[in-house]
Amino acid sequence: MAVKILDGKSVSRRMMENLKERIDNLKKHRIYPKLVTLISVPDDSTLSYIRSQRRSAEKLGIIFEEIPVDGTKLFERLEKLNEDEKVHGIMVTQPLPKGITPVDLLMRIDPKKDVEGVSPASLGRLVIGEPMFIPCTAEAAVRILVENGYDLNGKHSVVIGRSTTVGKPLALMLLLKKYNSTVTVCHTGTKDLSLHIKQADYVFVAVGKAGFLRREMVSRRNVIVDIGINFVDGKLVGDADFEDLKDFVEAITPVPGGVGSVTTAILMEHLVRSAERLLEEGKT
Ligand SMILES: NC(=O)c1ccc[n+]([C@@H]2O[C@H](COP(=O)([O-])OP(=O)(O)OC[C@H]3O[C@@H](n4cnc5c(N)ncnc54)[C@H](OP(=O)(O)O)[C@@H]3O)[C@@H](O)[C@H]2O)c1
Repeated sequence: MAVKILDGKSVSRRMMENLKERIDNLKKHRIYPKLVTLISVPDDSTLSYIRSQRRSAEKLGIIFEEIPVDGTKLFERLEKLNEDEKVHGIMVTQPLPKGITPVDLLMRIDPKKDVEGVSPASLGRLVIGEPMFIPCTAEAAVRILVENGYDLNGKHSVVIGRSTTVGKPLALMLLLKKYNSTVTVCHTGTKDLSLHIKQADYVFVAVGKAGFLRREMVSRRNVIVDIGINFVDGKLVGDADFEDLKDFVEAITPVPGGVGSVTTAILMEHLVRSAERLLEEGKT
């Protein structure tokens, strides 16, 4: 059986092309999309993540600013960025300084600029079915299917993982009327994981364990969306055992080149949408 490999890179390329046109249009109206990142604890993985976002932003002509900030000034800087009409998206890197919890901080980001979709306000909107920005990884996992022509309406989705950053928002997104999927969420308390997986049309795996999902756990009709990012001997691999599954299941996203490739494009799309809101409101 020829298995479909669902390529995220081409999805990302198409999205970026479309964004370029939208950014050109914004610039005609003198709106220059700008994304700002506040960095209070600059560890290596944070800096490498920021570098890759900067590359994508600059390719599109988005202004990307990194602001190193002392922990004691974090809230004050954030408040200024919330008020600055020339800033369309704000990100705050983690880890955070001692004494500041993610919720303390995230509840202070203006939801209109929360392009990562991670604040309590953004997640709350998703819960009530009126999202503004959905966490980028969750949205990327759905987008890679939709852009490859898959319909989620009335289909059964199994999400493995229930973290606040990935599993939960993904499950909530799939439940939106727009996607209309029937959703099962699995976690370490799930008794017979494979029983659930084998009944699914779509399987989203976000457990953070290299090669976790294997042939004996799945059915041939499963479409697998691998959200995992793991490093084994310096090599990037997903949560699914790609080699084991690739000629067995209906379709699968690779790692690298799958969901991760689409995630940054989603972030940029959110930023452009945030800037376009000014056009709609006539604030140019
Ligand atoms: N592609 C991207 O852009 C992107 C972005 C963010 C994260 N990720 C990746 O996605 C993966 C998940 O990230 P995360 O932040 O959600 O991780 P996390 O916070 O560690 O959550 C892992 C989830 O998987 C569940 N789980 C772990 N082992 C399991 C098992 N044996 N059976 C069933 N469920 C199990 C856990 O269940 P319990 O709740 O019961 O503990 C938990 O809900 C990681 O590889 C991460 O690097 C990718």
